[in-house]
Amino acid sequence: MHELFDNQAEHYDEWYNTPIGRFIDEIEKQKIWQCLQPKAGQAIIDVGCGTGNYMVELVRQGVAVTGVDVSRAMLRRASEKTKGMPVRLMECSADHLPFDDNSFDGALCVTVLEFVSDPIAVIEEMYRVVKPGGRIAAGFIAGDGPWAQAYKKKAQQHYSVFAHARFFTENDIKSMLPAVNLQISYGLYFSPDVTDIEEAITEETRNAYDNDMACPGFLCACWLVE
Ligand SMILES: C[S@@+](CC[C@H](N)C(=O)[O-])C[C@H]1O[C@@H](n2cnc3c(N)ncnc32)[C@H](O)[C@@H]1O
Repeated sequence: MHELFDNQAEHYDEWYNTPIGRFIDEIEKQKIWQCLQPKAGQAIIDVGCGTGNYMVELVRQGVAVTGVDVSRAMLRRASEKTKGMPVRLMECSADHLPFDDNSFDGALCVTVLEFVSDPIAVIEEMYRVVKPGGRIAAGFIAGDGPWAQAYKKKAQQHYSVFAHARFFTENDIKSMLPAVNLQISYGLYFSPDVTDIEEAITEETRNAYDNDMACPGFLCACWLVE
């Protein structure tokens, strides 16, 4: 079956090789690591792992990583990037994880829930496979932020995977699993119109500390499994 991201795999990582892409990646990873708090020796699952951007760093931190994704082409890139590393990759859908209950110390899922048909089922699956006391870190493009607006606009102008995305606000996410322990944090405090890295760094620093100006683009949801 052809998957949405199959055609993206070849060029997916190019963004991370641009100065702005690298800066954004750094900001987003900081939020995800703050939530996930990975530790050497832990077993962590990356749900919708894509080309393995997060997995590579988790391996460097001494974590035993399992990556799952529906796109064979994205998994192929992940396999190339993690060659020789102790990583387990599996092709499966995030709403049916082929693992026993309490198999992992933590789970991450970055910019994936925007593209799945049933995000609540995916969060419930992560909740099921993570042990009590573990953490689930999910990264979202903030639904009411300027980056979501820019992606929506782009998808109207020419073909983009974002034509298939749904963007979630903090309230949307809070209502997904209302009875569980959830902490929300934000990052990416500069506009998608900024093209120069120096300008991006200045805006990021200024806006992150100025509530009137703040309109963050990245939302990190952190569920603490009970
Ligand atoms: C925007 S990419 C993010 C990749 C990676 N998490 C990252 O941050 O670099 C979204 C990924 O989610 C995967 N995906 C979409 N729907 C999925 C599903 N139902 N189950 C598993 N993976 C899925 C796509 O194939 C794609 O690799």
